[in-house]
Amino acid sequence: MSISVVILAAGQGTRMKSSMPKVLHKISGKSMLFHAIEAAQKLSNDITVVLYHQAEMIKAQIEAKYENINFHIQDAINFPGTGGAMRGVITKNDKTLILNGDMPLVTDEALHKLTGSDADITMSVIMLDNPSGYGRVIIENNSVLEIVEQKDCDHVQLCTKSVNAGVYCVSSKLLNRYIPKLSNANSQKEYYLTDIIKMGVEENITIEPIYVDEEEFKGVNSKIDLAHAEQIHQTRIKNNFMANGVIMRLPETIYIETDVEIEGECIIENGVSLIGKTKIINSHIKSNSVVEDSILEGSDIGPMARIRPQSNLLDTHIGNFVEVKKGILDGVKAGHLSYLGDCTIGSGSNIGAGTITCNYDGKAKYQTIIGKNVFVGSDTQLVAPINIPDNVMIAAGTTVTKDPVSGDLVLSRTPQKSIAGFFYKFFIKS
Ligand code: UD1
Ligand code: MG
Repeated sequence: MSISVVILAAGQGTRMKSSMPKVLHKISGKSMLFHAIEAAQKLSNDITVVLYHQAEMIKAQIEAKYENINFHIQDAINFPGTGGAMRGVITKNDKTLILNGDMPLVTDEALHKLTGSDADITMSVIMLDNPSGYGRVIIENNSVLEIVEQKDCDHVQLCTKSVNAGVYCVSSKLLNRYIPKLSNANSQKEYYLTDIIKMGVEENITIEPIYVDEEEFKGVNSKIDLAHAEQIHQTRIKNNFMANGVIMRLPETIYIETDVEIEGECIIENGVSLIGKTKIINSHIKSNSVVEDSILEGSDIGPMARIRPQSNLLDTHIGNFVEVKKGILDGVKAGHLSYLGDCTIGSGSNIGAGTITCNYDGKAKYQTIIGKNVFVGSDTQLVAPINIPDNVMIAAGTTVTKDPVSGDLVLSRTPQKSIAGFFYKFFIKS
């Protein structure tokens, strides 16, 4: 049976204490809302996101990345709350799965548990020793009676350990009937979606509680929740790579974003950050290195190397304190302390310590092209645009401003001069 999905993302998220809408805060490099959209896309092609606070900005971000998402703007002034968010939402299919936009850890497998039942309403329930912060699900003889929000709970209800995870799968017809009937007679003066449960109970509708894992259905309401959710998400990402053969040293110290790919035999050491659309193939990333939006194959980098966006390293050795940006390096050695930006470097070339591609003149960026088998001596500045052909030797301390010819030794040095005995005259009293 086909399912429609509604993602509630109109709330301000005041507990986040941030000017950025809550659902745009990121887990492993991707906003919580995008995690929810991607889980929804695996179940449905009728997805509606409900927005209100900073709606235009969030809508623009979604549209830049995803196609075929419907939007509904909540009338949050007159109808605040999760029930108010559902007012006027039109879904195409017989069943509607409602997700909170602040649940970045939910997987499509877990959602299948809710959509797979014949009940008129299925709802997600978590058993928690510390239920604080969640709506309590009142269950008697295995039947759900109602959901009571924490702020509306009496002393007995507060101790209830079954809580509402915030995901429901409801017959669309029932939703259309119940939502307009919701009231705001509660402590927050909000229209609670959760009140549809009580309405269903009164009409003897079948309501099935589906017990789910706290880890997957965790709602993020504060920066503490955000950090905790990211930790869980990171563990998932890293366990998945290790299960596929990647070696990780002290994995709890490694940060890997959602879109990173790692293939073949790789070693990722402690403190490494792999960011954006990075791809690592048969490579060794040594401790405390950072790689962002780059491809590394058959290479080793670090410790403490930084590979910035649009770099592509093949069979290359990068040592400590080397920064590469938009660098295409094939069969290169750059062992120490260099900045290699906007450059292409060919195989067999050796970049000495302290080499700098001077790519920026204060207005624009320029390219440095280095051919094959070029020996760049230590402390060399390559003032771009510059083209060093194959088989060139650049002496240490040179500032290269003119394109050499293959076979050249290039050097620009002030001739050395020595003054005999000066040391003794200066430092030693006679
Ligand atoms: C909600 C549930 C609670 C459940 C918890 C699970 C209600 C009344 N309460 O509480 O039972 O235990 O989730 O995490 O539903 N939103 C809107 N419009 C609004 C208000 C909220 O779209 O006017 C969206 C938010 O952007 C968010 C989601 O709904 O994505 C949940 O809102 P939130 O304020 O976090 O609800 P909780 O208090 O956590
Ligand atoms: Mg919440």
